[in-house]
Amino acid sequence: MTPEAPIGMFDSGVGGLTVLHAVMVRLPHEDVVYVGDTGRFPYGPRTRDELVGYARELTAVLVERGAKVVVVACNSATAAALPTLQRECPVPVLGVVTPEARAAVQATRNRRVGVLATEATVASGRYVDAIHDLDAGVEVVQVACPGLAEAIQGGEPYSERTLELAQATCAPLREAGVDTVVLGCTHYPLIRHMLQRELGADVQTIAAAEELAGEVAATLARKGWERDRGHRGGCAFVATGDPEAFREEGTRFLQLPIGAVEHLDVTG
Ligand code: DGL
Repeated sequence: MTPEAPIGMFDSGVGGLTVLHAVMVRLPHEDVVYVGDTGRFPYGPRTRDELVGYARELTAVLVERGAKVVVVACNSATAAALPTLQRECPVPVLGVVTPEARAAVQATRNRRVGVLATEATVASGRYVDAIHDLDAGVEVVQVACPGLAEAIQGGEPYSERTLELAQATCAPLREAGVDTVVLGCTHYPLIRHMLQRELGADVQTIAAAEELAGEVAATLARKGWERDRGHRGGCAFVATGDPEAFREEGTRFLQLPIGAVEHLDVTG
């Protein structure tokens, strides 16, 4: 594997750009190819089989484009497909669940951890398993948030509708007395302050982006696949939906300008 190869990354749409942002901060010398499956967003209501199919297809695209590692910057896709991708893919595949689970287990003091995620992620039970692999004594309270990612992405992230959904999803976690909450969906960090207000200031929130960026950095360093630090990394953006919509919505998530966006046809 040549260190000059890019990092490949995919998500159900623009949410994974929060992960890309963290990778760009942590590894400014690396090139990245990012595929946003905006044509099939949202992943949350999809079945496991559908998500495995999409994840396989997008991973193959990234491998074909020379990725040295594939980052699944989407909680729903990671929860449904990570082991399958890891078994089949010729390069390492990293996902969001394990790094966040580790951070949550390290952070909790009362050993009660909440997980906010999509229906698909909650149904998979992957967070519960990942947390219990590290500490079987931690109580995990999962809450599915149907519609929350769509509300955040829909142009009005700080609307009354988003606030109502945030209040409804945080209430059971407050009742359960968790002291640490995993924001188990790429979109939720965008309303971190709103969620924090509902959860209470003494609850720690854990997001995927920084944790996963650290995992990518460690993987490349240990394998000796880091690009030389004098290089300024660039990003190539690919969307399965409308490229212009990706650019507009994506800029808010990446918090950086997005240049050209290539369109990719997918199977359906
Ligand atoms: N990237 C997706 C996730 O983290 C966003 C939500 C969705 O596509 O439903 O689960």
